Amino acid sequence: MRFDHRTAVVTGGAKGIGRAVAFELGAHGVEVVVLDVEKEALDKTGEELKAAGYRAHTIVCDVADRESMDRALNEIFACVDKVDILINNAGIYRDNVMKFWLTDPDTWERRWRINVFGTMYMTRGILPGMLERRYGHIVNLGSVAGVYGNWDMVDYSATKGAVISFTKALAKETAPYNVLVTAVSPGSIGEGTGPSELSFSGRHGSFEECAELICFLASDNASYCSGQNYQVDGCRKRM
Ligand SMILES: NC(=O)c1ccc[n+]([C@@H]2O[C@H](COP(=O)([O-])OP(=O)(O)OC[C@H]3O[C@@H](n4cnc5c(N)ncnc54)[C@H](O)[C@@H]3O)[C@@H](O)[C@H]2O)c1
Repeated sequence: MRFDHRTAVVTGGAKGIGRAVAFELGAHGVEVVVLDVEKEALDKTGEELKAAGYRAHTIVCDVADRESMDRALNEIFACVDKVDILINNAGIYRDNVMKFWLTDPDTWERRWRINVFGTMYMTRGILPGMLERRYGHIVNLGSVAGVYGNWDMVDYSATKGAVISFTKALAKETAPYNVLVTAVSPGSIGEGTGPSELSFSGRHGSFEECAELICFLASDNASYCSGQNYQVDGCRKRM
């Protein structure tokens, strides 16, 4: 993958897919600013990135909170003078797995603030510089739930459908400025590649398998990819 002196912001990068993305970008010489709400995990990831010899910065930030995001945007531009790549990865999905009629509106609102408004607000903060420089790659984390709709995850599915639509619509406005916007929708991704009934490949995907697709879309190789949602799901079987 080609990256020409690029800098990247990865939200929710302390753990899981975001962490794997930060390592993959770091390994390709990209200077990475990692944001997360969990300070302890974030510090650990930052130290590990630096120990691996990668150029990394960490900023504690709650993407659901506009004041926290404003502070983080200021801190980002204190660390790096431009952002070429934005990976909107921060998201919550594991809680509140139940029938829609049993769910609590406060929980949906929190999820919309993180998964949807967090993505929109961070994009709104980073995009002007990209438009000005006529260069940018934005990759938003969708989900197969946002494509097919997951049972017992109705509110989560709705947020990820919104992220995918946001991606497709925004890409049309920014492509003339060479700012390319894509979504990556994982299936079942976890530590290792254990068995899964949800894909014809019969297993989970690893964080690294997901991160490689995200990083390809963020790279100079993906110069004609925009406005699409790319699934990484081992050939999804059922929801
Ligand atoms: N793992 C999967 O199977 C899967 C499937 C489909 C979609 N996704 C999406 O991929 C993304 C990453 O998933 P993951 O499996 O790595 O999740 P994860 O829970 O392992 O990691 C998410 C990270 O985001 C951070 N985060 C959560 N809320 C935040 C907030 N308000 N502000 C800043 N950071 C916050 C967490 O602290 C954590 O470090 C999410 O958007 C998720 O919805 C994951």
